[in-house]
Amino acid sequence: MKVAVVGATGLVGGIMLKVLEERNFPVDGLLAVASDRSAGKAVRFRGKDVQVIGMEAAIAAKPDIALFSAGGSTSLEWAPRFAEVGCTVIDNSSAWRMDPTKKLVVPEINGHLLAADDKIIANPNCSTIQMVLALAPLHKAFTVERVIVSTYQSVTGTGMKAVAQMQNERDGVAGEMAYPFVIDRNVIPRCDVFTDNGYTKEEMKLVLETKKILDPAIRVTATAVRVPVTGGHSEAVNVEFATEFELGQVRELLRNAPGIVLLDEPTKDEYPMPSIANGRDEVFVGRLRRDETQPRTLNLWIVADNLRKGAATNAVQIAEVLVSKGLLRRERVMH
Ligand code: A2P
Repeated sequence: MKVAVVGATGLVGGIMLKVLEERNFPVDGLLAVASDRSAGKAVRFRGKDVQVIGMEAAIAAKPDIALFSAGGSTSLEWAPRFAEVGCTVIDNSSAWRMDPTKKLVVPEINGHLLAADDKIIANPNCSTIQMVLALAPLHKAFTVERVIVSTYQSVTGTGMKAVAQMQNERDGVAGEMAYPFVIDRNVIPRCDVFTDNGYTKEEMKLVLETKKILDPAIRVTATAVRVPVTGGHSEAVNVEFATEFELGQVRELLRNAPGIVLLDEPTKDEYPMPSIANGRDEVFVGRLRRDETQPRTLNLWIVADNLRKGAATNAVQIAEVLVSKGLLRRERVMH
């Protein structure tokens, strides 16, 4: 399989390379792709240096599959050009997620819907992936009606510049600002840009992507907050179901759900935190308790490494589904 990682010099791109390596994805040619600014740079893959190439050179090499994490405008412009040469694009940006002709995929939930004519496949937003993965088995059992979510999001979600800003602030040195305010020892109630309704784009992603992946009938309201943390995003989630539930049933469902680790022993101080999720591919769930103010309502706490299951791992898992279903060009030719 000839695999292109577009955005290979970025934070998510770097983890994509790592995850491809760790999961032993069948890569027999790796194209490390970035902007022309990165000409001459190299990235490490399987212990070797791979020279970074530009977009035109990558298209000319006709990859079978391209994992994109280079921003929305890059995806809008370039994903169709990769698709034109027969490449299947898995795109981590928000560019194609709400396009009704594109699938928005969390493999454990809707990977079975992928088909050979899906040439551009959207990877959901990091905050959405971890939330819907935990909600999916509960929705099946009790039908989620309404979700209130507040996020506590890692600076890694903003990219390298943001991680550098926080580090500079900790080191007491001046540097480029990724946020309009200091982030260390602060909390910023704004992730991504504001939209006309007063919500941020990140908040609206949680609303719209959850509907697209799980069920358009689910009502979601969100507050997305940036915190001075690396390692993962955390979410306090309040879920109202259509039918009654027992906490024991919820525990059992989450314990058996693929990709979920239940960490819920409050008396032993066991609950999910970014320091636990950091570097892991699973979504961690805990602090399960009834909302005592109304019936059929649950509070829970969900944490995941936003660069992994929230981005790179989910993208590679989509690629694995394509391989296992024989949906990639080269495999189709061979069949
Ligand atoms: P480059 O390093 O050449 O700018 P992050 O979000 O961590 O900052 O990473 C963004 C990634 O997207 C980087 O690899 C960056 O490459 C890549 N990128 C940004 N703009 C483009 C573009 N126009 N074409 C190709 N890659 C791009």
